[in-house]
Amino acid sequence: MNLREAIKERRSIRKYENKEIPADLLKEILEDALWAPSGTNRQKWEIIAVRGEKKDALLEVIAETVKYLKPRLEKIFPEKMVKITLQFFKNLGGAPVVLLVYIPKNIPELHPDMSGLERHQREYDRFTTLLSASALFQNILLLAKEKGLGTCWMTAPKYVEDEINDFMGIKDQELVSITPIGYPDQNPPAPPRKGEKIRWIGFE
Ligand SMILES: Cc1cc2nc3c(=O)[nH]c(=O)nc-3n(C[C@H](O)[C@H](O)[C@H](O)COP(=O)(O)O)c2cc1C
Repeated sequence: MNLREAIKERRSIRKYENKEIPADLLKEILEDALWAPSGTNRQKWEIIAVRGEKKDALLEVIAETVKYLKPRLEKIFPEKMVKITLQFFKNLGGAPVVLLVYIPKNIPELHPDMSGLERHQREYDRFTTLLSASALFQNILLLAKEKGLGTCWMTAPKYVEDEINDFMGIKDQELVSITPIGYPDQNPPAPPRKGEKIRWIGFE
């Protein structure tokens, strides 16, 4: 599979086979993903891979997300979609492993009357670190796809970040995103992409 295929054929997978991922394969994916670019090459990120009983208990904490998510979903999705989405949160589709990506906690205090420069100076570190961790996250998703594994980038569990961090014994770190990872047990159609997202200047 070439890079273009991995990018275009990767889908968010919400149902997984009951099959372990070989530890060496997961290690290879995560180590390769760490070649992502990062602001001034600081690599201020951490990946946590959880499986087994700890993962099952973590899923119970993550499942609490639905308390906050349900009212929001009901406003934007038809009933069937709400049901499917909430069902997914019960055990993240039965994936054998859950990955969490963290960055150091550094949430700046901002005021609406700050100048652009002041704001930038305060936000810069978190902004750059979040973007770097996002590049790492996308690497994980694409490398997993290349190896026949499925993933689903998730930020909704941020609703219960404090509970997740307490459970994981994490202090002074910010949860960026979570993904289940495992062998896909579904082949969902590609949600359509919107056009007109590129503006060409000087190409006429
Ligand atoms: C930053 C981010 C957060 C997301 N959070 C969730 C989530 O919490 N739950 C979920 O089921 N999907 C989540 N998704 C997956 C998107 O719904 C999905 O990428 C989008 O619908 C396009 O589908 P595709 O990934 O199959 O191409 C998230 C994706 C991104 C990039």
